[in-house]
Amino acid sequence: MDSLIQLSELTKRYGHGGSAAIENVSLTVAAGEAVAVMGPSGSGKSTLLNLVAGLDRPSSGTVTVAGQRIDSLGETGVARFRRREIGMIFQFFNLLDDLTVADNVLLPAQLAGVRTAAARTRTAELLAALRIEQHRDSYPARLSGGERQRVAIARALVNRPALLLADEPTGALDTATGEEIGELLLDLNSSGQTMVLVTHNPDLAARYAGRTVQLLDGRVASDGPSRSGDARVASTAHRGVGGSPPRPAPSPGRYAEGPAQAWS
Ligand SMILES: Nc1ncnc2c1ncn2[C@@H]1O[C@H](COP(=O)(O)OP(=O)(O)O)[C@@H](O)[C@H]1O
Ligand SMILES: [Mg+2]
Repeated sequence: MDSLIQLSELTKRYGHGGSAAIENVSLTVAAGEAVAVMGPSGSGKSTLLNLVAGLDRPSSGTVTVAGQRIDSLGETGVARFRRREIGMIFQFFNLLDDLTVADNVLLPAQLAGVRTAAARTRTAELLAALRIEQHRDSYPARLSGGERQRVAIARALVNRPALLLADEPTGALDTATGEEIGELLLDLNSSGQTMVLVTHNPDLAARYAGRTVQLLDGRVASDGPSRSGDARVASTAHRGVGGSPPRPAPSPGRYAEGPAQAWS
């Protein structure tokens, strides 16, 4: 089994003397997995994601992503690593308001030194796949929450990251829009994208992630197959009966055409 993320005895304390936000967590995620991270507010979910992304440094323990020990990289090394290997999406989208949709998506490719023509092609491809190409020249403030999250997903994918991290990506969306974003993530995982998804929503976890890790006070309380493993099937059947427009079948490679090495 190819492990994409390997956390070993990971502990994170903020400040000194405080209690640990993450305490002695060891966890492996295989390439191709979709893992939901659940737990009460303050249980360490965001801290865990930030450690995996190299946005934060552990107090002790190691973080290995795609074969790279990121806890021992310097600032520049971590930044470069994150640009290439990690895509992140957040509850409140974190788009740049002064840039158009297309420029928001282009920016990480430009920062990674991708040729402009190639970056534009990739951006157009993603905007089309995520059905937001009609908004390419709009500013984020003009878009709905669901549209903004789709822009954020496109931006996260532009450099073909090995790993997509999502911190409560549906937390600011209504139920129907949240489901739409969940379906997109499911499609992405079906086409091979490894992802770790923090959510408060057990339904989302069951439907869109095969495995759920429960955190409690910074520790792994449980780790196993997401409950109600047939929720995905049930929901699809329900949708069919409900007469909603059929959604396109997941097409492998829709988001990840072309060899990744041509990119770097
Ligand atoms: N930057 C920070 N400085 C100090 N304490 C923090 C910081 N970020 C998180 N914490 C603390 O760490 C714990 C875990 O927080 P967090 O990872 O945000 O939890 P969750 O995402 O599960 O709600 C909480 O007690 C929180 O107050
Ligand atoms: Mg959080």
